[in-house]
Amino acid sequence: MNIESLARPEIVAMKPYSSARKEAPGTGIQLNANESPRPLLDPSDSLNRYPDPQPAELVTRLAALYSVPENYVLLTRGSDEGIDLLVRVFCRAGQDAILHCPPTFGMYRIAAQTQGAHIVSINRQADEGFKLLEQDVLNALQSDARIKLVFLTSPNNPTGDLVSRPFIDQLLEAARDRAIVVLDEAYAEFCSQPSATALIAEHENLVVLRTLSKAWASAGLRCGSVLAQESVISLLRRVIAPYPVPSPVMKLAMRMLGDDMMDRQRDLMREIGDNKRYLLQILENRDFIREVIPGDANFVLIRVDRASELLSFAASRNVIIRGFPADPLLQGCLRISVGAENELASFAAVLDEWESNR
Ligand SMILES: Cc1ncc(COP(=O)(O)O)c(C=O)c1O
Repeated sequence: MNIESLARPEIVAMKPYSSARKEAPGTGIQLNANESPRPLLDPSDSLNRYPDPQPAELVTRLAALYSVPENYVLLTRGSDEGIDLLVRVFCRAGQDAILHCPPTFGMYRIAAQTQGAHIVSINRQADEGFKLLEQDVLNALQSDARIKLVFLTSPNNPTGDLVSRPFIDQLLEAARDRAIVVLDEAYAEFCSQPSATALIAEHENLVVLRTLSKAWASAGLRCGSVLAQESVISLLRRVIAPYPVPSPVMKLAMRMLGDDMMDRQRDLMREIGDNKRYLLQILENRDFIREVIPGDANFVLIRVDRASELLSFAASRNVIIRGFPADPLLQGCLRISVGAENELASFAAVLDEWESNR
């Protein structure tokens, strides 16, 4: 398949912007980028200079982390930017569509709406723990030629369930020559299922999204990775901002992924695992909780009586959980992130008080 035939023709045709840093490496006497000749803060920080558009050191580190070749990696400002780039490259306004499976992460819809793309929604089955309707996804893909991007999330936010490997294989086969399959693995580190990155080499139409925001405790860094074959990455490079990785972010990300951090990250994952068990215990045996959907990520979804009142009550006690008042699919649902043990104890106290006031 020629992946370019799936992209917007104007993106394929356009001559990409060539930044000063792309045209010439940051060495020698640099009079080509209208930068300040010296930094004002710390003389060693080089903040006066534009950063490397895709810092090689960090690309190499992330490629190793995600077990892909370096030319499969595009660094982005969080996965949010990866989602936006994909929609901008593959969906023509008013003509093409994305497919997603609500309830799911809201940015697929926002990116599509921003681009003026259509949205095909294959809603999950609410009365069966929000099961993904796999056959309906395949049918929609088969029958609707507008669909250029299929967004699947594993583990899904907010339901925490995984996309099964056999279904990923089936979908990749069905989408061959027709659409790009985007597997958003923002929470992959919390589950035991292997990442789909190993499938990229065989499937030009597979994109995997990873991020340092969750299991690497770095949401503030805004450091995401789009992982795909070079043919897809080079299309995305055409529309990405010239300098998506600020130099302080690059330095902090390298520190975060240093050898000395590996044990600390493993400890964090263990702590989150323990805390999740504690959260599930907190939720046990409370009559107002109708359903607990534990999922495989660092959050739990529950369905309760009087959800919006409980949400406000918790907020009044300074405990902020996530409600979905505007989403008809998630009426009565609340999502609780796996916080620190003392934070979860505060949440437990809120539930106790709520229960005793009923
Ligand atoms: C499924 C999913 N994908 C992507 C993101 C965004 O991640 P990032 O912080 O890398 O932009 C989130 C954030 O909550 C998410 O839940």
